[in-house]
Amino acid sequence: MDFPKDFLWGAATASFQVEGYPEADGAGESNWLHFCRQRGRIANDDIPDIAPGQFIHYKEDVKIMRDIGVKAYRMSLSWSRIFPNGDGKINPKGFDYYDRMVNELLENGIQPWITFFHWDMPQSLEDRFGGWRSKDVCKIFGDYVSAAAAHLSDRVTNFFTVNEIPCFTSAGYGSGTFAPGLKLGRKEVNQTIYNGCLAHGYAMTAARAAAKQPISIGLVDNCDGFMPVIATEENINAARKAFRLENSDRLTLIREGKFTPEYVKATGEYMPEYTDEELKMISTPMDFQGVNLYAPNYVMADKNSERGYRIVPFSSSHPVMSMPWLKFDPQIIYYVSRFISELWPTPAIYVTENGCAAEDKFDLDGEVYDTDRTMYLREHFRSAARAVKENYPLKGYFVWSLLDNFEWACGFEKRFGIVYVNYHDLSRTPKLSAKYYREVIRTGNAV
Ligand code: NOJ
Repeated sequence: MDFPKDFLWGAATASFQVEGYPEADGAGESNWLHFCRQRGRIANDDIPDIAPGQFIHYKEDVKIMRDIGVKAYRMSLSWSRIFPNGDGKINPKGFDYYDRMVNELLENGIQPWITFFHWDMPQSLEDRFGGWRSKDVCKIFGDYVSAAAAHLSDRVTNFFTVNEIPCFTSAGYGSGTFAPGLKLGRKEVNQTIYNGCLAHGYAMTAARAAAKQPISIGLVDNCDGFMPVIATEENINAARKAFRLENSDRLTLIREGKFTPEYVKATGEYMPEYTDEELKMISTPMDFQGVNLYAPNYVMADKNSERGYRIVPFSSSHPVMSMPWLKFDPQIIYYVSRFISELWPTPAIYVTENGCAAEDKFDLDGEVYDTDRTMYLREHFRSAARAVKENYPLKGYFVWSLLDNFEWACGFEKRFGIVYVNYHDLSRTPKLSAKYYREVIRTGNAV
């Protein structure tokens, strides 16, 4: 078998992308809902106010997972359901949905793995504090995590702090493509990235202190996945070095508790404000490392460059999935698992997301033959199998995504699910890739 019996096969989603009904039961407006309500921000001005509707259809979704054989479901909590204003009074009804969902999963033998923050924060925190520009928000985040961990840890023992720091910081406050849609200067953006790391640190400490039983907790990072363009020893060493240095502002900072001299030099006057005490909290050892892995970056050793490596440009005809940034090279799973565990003590690594968008269409027989996604997954499983075989601590994999869902600025245009969602009647249809995934889970082989 390519994978051991206890390899954790999972599926992933996030609250704002799948739940729908974001203001039900007294929830506050989130920054993403606020952003979607501004015309021209999202493709077709889509708003996930109903679809895909897991808030209502959760039992059906759990049944689909059980049929596929999924062992774990990575989901996130909506902060503004629980604290409508971000801080202050808790909304007692805010946990009801998560209680229903968690209980349904457990009754069906599926472990819930919960992310505290997958980008949707109460808009009130943006209005009152400037969102992730403010360290006060990191502290308030810690309080929300305490409440959520205290409430759920009688049944849930695996948690993630924050998901993909650059996407709720640089993309939100720098390029402005994501909520809150601002285009600030370099120092302010670096501060938000640093504050994202600080929020992770607060969450590590708060969740462990509030939990009712021992829990496992770690970060979900979308590190840039550097790999050798040709796997010579020299290039492998160069790629490992690039992996560490090019991810200096978050993953390396979190793992090492200090900024690399290379980052300090390159950032100069744009360095964020930080303290040694904060760095200590940020680098609290994690129980596992989550990585979202999609697209490769190639590296070549280069004796003439200051850092000893060169990033290789992509050929314009490099294979790309149905999303402009989603270039194809499955080796990302092998190399990221390898480099993380070679660089830092890492008890376990989980691929917390991997998958692709595809132009899914119904065939005349009523099936969706997503052969491209099926191929994408198979090749990534082979790469994961190589990491496992060579004893890197890769312990599990969550496919992104269980369902077609709200793909942020792309709205409902891009479909990442292994299950098709009809956005008119919200019916669900497992695609070919879901059937394929079931076989992989059943056999333990990247068939
Ligand atoms: C990573 C994000 O965590 C997720 O929310 C998003 O939908 C996928 N990438 C695909 O873009």
